[in-house]
Amino acid sequence: MSRTRCDQTPAWAQLQAQFAHSGAGFDVRAALAQDPGRVAHFSQNAPHVFADLSKNLIDAPTEALLLQLARECGLEQHRDAMFAGEAINTTENRAVMHFLLRKPATAPAEYALAATKNVANTLQSMLAYAEQVRADTAITDVVNIGIGGSDLGPQMAVLALSEFARSGKRLHFVSNVDGHELASVLAQCKPQSTLFLIASKTFTTAETMANAASAKAWFLAQGGSGTASHFAALTTNVAAAQAFGISTTFGFWDWVGGRYSLWSAIGLPIAIAIGAQGFADMLAGAHAMDEHFRTAPLAHNLPVRLGLLDLWYRNFHGFTSRCAAPYSAALKRLPAYLQQLEMESNGKRVDAQGQALPFATSPVVWGEPGTNGQHAYFQMLHQGTDVVPVEFIAVQKPSHTLPGHHAKLLANALAQAQALLQGKADAGGHKHFSGNRPSSFLVLAELSPASFGALIALYEHRVFVSGSIWGINSFDQWGVELGKVLAQDIEPRLANGDVSGLDASTASLLQRLR
Ligand code: F6P
Repeated sequence: MSRTRCDQTPAWAQLQAQFAHSGAGFDVRAALAQDPGRVAHFSQNAPHVFADLSKNLIDAPTEALLLQLARECGLEQHRDAMFAGEAINTTENRAVMHFLLRKPATAPAEYALAATKNVANTLQSMLAYAEQVRADTAITDVVNIGIGGSDLGPQMAVLALSEFARSGKRLHFVSNVDGHELASVLAQCKPQSTLFLIASKTFTTAETMANAASAKAWFLAQGGSGTASHFAALTTNVAAAQAFGISTTFGFWDWVGGRYSLWSAIGLPIAIAIGAQGFADMLAGAHAMDEHFRTAPLAHNLPVRLGLLDLWYRNFHGFTSRCAAPYSAALKRLPAYLQQLEMESNGKRVDAQGQALPFATSPVVWGEPGTNGQHAYFQMLHQGTDVVPVEFIAVQKPSHTLPGHHAKLLANALAQAQALLQGKADAGGHKHFSGNRPSSFLVLAELSPASFGALIALYEHRVFVSGSIWGINSFDQWGVELGKVLAQDIEPRLANGDVSGLDASTASLLQRLR
């Protein structure tokens, strides 16, 4: 499989010319008014997700050039290499196969992979355990201890799918090494009715190990007995979990990246919340999106269209961030999840060969649920000096019956997208809105395990698309290492006051914080 970095293709130069010619001054209001086919052209159906991309600063010729860019970069071959289980995570020499976790065991082997049987067996025992926990009325509290991918995905999913939770258990998520977090959860729990899930791909992450050790010490100090039935580990490093004293373990594999792991044993809290069938439905929704990404022509492939738009905005318009605005309180944690997914994957300054990049990569991804964001930072989105593309995510059918609320919520999502687009030219000075501010609008018919699974898989593949074209490795995260090493050096200094060799600012802060 050969990849060509985007800036080394003919399409890249053509896109630069296109941007200078018509991209920079593109007026999407005029395009919508003049082209009766625009909404249809820029609408895309994908499994469980509909997208209206027509309010973006893009026209059909530009999109055609972006598609040509994708082909010239070898996006399809790179995608196929991932689905064939090739070691596309080159710096760690690992395959990238989170999609395999969602492939039904009974599906025809279009892409035969040795791990399939192991995946099915592990999933079955994980789901059986989830059902056992659900049925165990003695367990009232489940505490997931993990951070990053071992926290954000499950936490987001449990909140998003709380309507489907029938287990009658309280689920808590402890990620921060800040002891206030664990202490406040422990204050609500009793050892004999608590199950701790220690979630860590590596089982070495400092924060998780510290929280796990404190949870175990608390459990024993409070007179807890039967560690085997009150602690389970979700990890690729089963030996380390056993050495820690946990005998109930659910494994996964090095080809599941941490930020892509909610479909693996890391998803156990989700399965405890929504049950084995709900979890299977979530996997099925994600699998449907995998198949869409794997087989739909690029021009009608939603992750591809979104990834190309991201690239157009980042590298040609120079927009530095994207706002994720789920108009759904249940999707409250989506922006935090997307931050890890996108910024840890594509926040890279060198290409897959280690060469410094002459162009920008990951935007800052940020956001809050609507309508809350409207009363906070939307001012800047409408009238600030920076253009920030906004991605609205709306759910058509509510799962509550309170009258009036949902129409108000949807009306606000539509109105904000409309206001960004139209602006208000008839007022001057402080009351002037320039408009022509881009947004995408994603719609789920309902928020269910299946649609949730599809939405998250959509984001995973979109990140693949932009990372692939940028020519980077989206599946490593060396940038998190330096801070971890320095923290190990600083921790004893906080106790002994040694500031030798530190820069003046760090030395002074360390003295203050002791
Ligand atoms: O430090 C970053 C990171 O490695 C993430 O990639 C990962 O999701 C998180 O830490 C937690 O890692 P683990 O699951 O191994 O504890």
